[in-house]
Amino acid sequence: MEVVMHLYRCAVVPLTLVMGLAGAWAGTPAEQLTALSAQAGRSPNPVAGQQFFNAKHGREWSCASCHGALPTAEAKHASTGKAIAPLAPVFNPERFTDAAKSEKWFRRNCNDVLARECTAAEKADVLAWLISLKR
Ligand code: HEC
Repeated sequence: MEVVMHLYRCAVVPLTLVMGLAGAWAGTPAEQLTALSAQAGRSPNPVAGQQFFNAKHGREWSCASCHGALPTAEAKHASTGKAIAPLAPVFNPERFTDAAKSEKWFRRNCNDVLARECTAAEKADVLAWLISLKR
């Protein structure tokens, strides 16, 4: 038992710490993508991400309703009409540099579009597509 507990502490505690810190300090889009893919347990699929972003999911809006079908330029909020800066990180270097901010908006927007939170796999797919959009 002693040995098992010791092994447990040696392996699991550092792993949990490292994963926790990776989440909290995810300061680049690539780091956020790595963290989301690890959570999802599979590689991200940018083609699925593009479809997910542009599709409606049983409610009035898609992600594209506010961010534009190709979120490389400024877009207009579907209800307030306010300008929204580009979501693709190459076109807006502030995007996906603060994991807490990204998570907050994923939660809020996914609830608006899907009436539930997005899964880690859905977020990873969308982010992989956004990262793939280049000038
Ligand atoms: C009703 C309008 C609306 C819809 C629909 C919408 N968003 Fe957003 N989104 C916003 C606003 C407003 C912000 C915050 C302002 C900003 O960051 O420009 C935001 C910010 C974000 C961010 C923050 C990114 C960062 O790190 O800066 C992510 C991620 C995001 N949206 C993803 C999505 C996804 C995925 C969907 C579809 C499931 C979606 N949004 C649908 C309005 C919307």
